[in-house]
Amino acid sequence: MNDTRIAPSILSADFSKLGEEVRSVDAAGADVIHFDVMDNHYVPNLTFGPIVCSSIRPHTKLPIDVHLMVEPVDALATEFAKAGADLISFHPEASSHVDRTINLIKAQGCRVGLAFNPASPLHILDWTLDKIDLVLIMSVNPGFGGQSFIEHSLDKIAEVRDLIDLSGCDVWLEVDGGIKVENIASIADAGADTFVAGSAIFGATDYQDVISQMKSEIE
Ligand code: DX5
Ligand code: ZN
Repeated sequence: MNDTRIAPSILSADFSKLGEEVRSVDAAGADVIHFDVMDNHYVPNLTFGPIVCSSIRPHTKLPIDVHLMVEPVDALATEFAKAGADLISFHPEASSHVDRTINLIKAQGCRVGLAFNPASPLHILDWTLDKIDLVLIMSVNPGFGGQSFIEHSLDKIAEVRDLIDLSGCDVWLEVDGGIKVENIASIADAGADTFVAGSAIFGATDYQDVISQMKSEIE
């Protein structure tokens, strides 16, 4: 298994002290900061915009992995790139021209990912895998933290792992939703290398303890 990464989702952080929370998970061994953007249009929830991204940017040197659950995508993607995002993932269903949106994000100097909902087919990867840096497999329906892992995601993860390995492309395989210490090993066995966890990390009293437990489960 090549590099693996733990990506705490700040959706489950204490928003009254977000900068401190980002510093804490950074110090606790996180590898990426996962930043869930929801617009109450593409998903039935509303979170935060580019201004919050720029306010947490000085608090960590870790990559900020922006997950856009928004429609349309292009204007907000540009704003998040300016706000300091390192990676920007979007849902292909939310863009009317996926190839153009991929190019737009890359033109801002950001790495780009495609996010697939539990029922979304993977065939769009036939024409995009060689252009992207990350495939994000949703193991819950997007919109909320604290949901249960959807078991059929394991088959989808294995399928994407085969596609990436066959392509020879350097693409992260990120899984997002319902990841806990108890199930992360099976998700890694299926082929994931990047693990988003919100409630499992920010719901714990000791961030370092839970992150190191997750890391030992996937090593
Ligand atoms: C859901 C988000 C996930 C979520 C993960 O739409 O994309 O990143 O915050 O939270 P947990 O780990 O609690 O399922
Ligand atoms: Zn997410």
